[in-house]
Amino acid sequence: MASARAKVAILISGRGSNMAALIEAAADPAFPAEIALVVSNRPDAAGLVRAAAAGIPTKVVDHKDFGKDREAFERALDTVLQEHSIAILCLAGFMRLLTPWFVGRWEGRMINVHPALLPSFKGLDTHARALAAGVRLHGATVHLVVPEMDSGPIIVQGAVPIGDDDTEATLAARVLAVEHRIYPLALRWLAEGRITVEAGRCRIAGAAAPDGAIVAPTV
Ligand code: GAR
Repeated sequence: MASARAKVAILISGRGSNMAALIEAAADPAFPAEIALVVSNRPDAAGLVRAAAAGIPTKVVDHKDFGKDREAFERALDTVLQEHSIAILCLAGFMRLLTPWFVGRWEGRMINVHPALLPSFKGLDTHARALAAGVRLHGATVHLVVPEMDSGPIIVQGAVPIGDDDTEATLAARVLAVEHRIYPLALRWLAEGRITVEAGRCRIAGAAAPDGAIVAPTV
């Protein structure tokens, strides 16, 4: 019999394209994790429809039901996760800040995707800010979640060169494609137990030694 796959919940607030990439990767029975649940803090998140269409159980824990009480919201969320025996949490466009209490409970088992090469461009509007800064390389990051927003040990990054004619929209599309590529990798490595953190830095067992350089622009 195949060994049990790690049960994963994906937390979303919106369209859920990263969620869909994780669901697609985990549809392969050889993938070491199973997407057991999708939770949204917004009842109208488009990703909920997408998850249900893929046959994944969905839940709404609406933060508005808890007013300003963040911990009460998180306790309700945590109860749902325990009910489904969730082992790993993936934040995929989940737009709520999490308290140290919740982050502590899921320490080492919760990952997030961010549309920038962290630690540059934490927060919102990352593509507009990368363009305004004139950087030549932008990209996406998957990292372990710590209480400080968009921080935490970096698991994997994908770089996207910025061209002279790029707009926020063209850049966003290319970065999103990279997010969809790197997020399943990070989940795979976490589920396989290949990630260790030493002095705030991730080590990935079995990763090949790096070589070469990415130069942008090319003329
Ligand atoms: C993604 O680009 C994700 O990196 C970003 O929101 C988008 C969600 O898209 N997350 C953050 O900015 C969190 N700091 P999706 O719902 O289609 O996956």
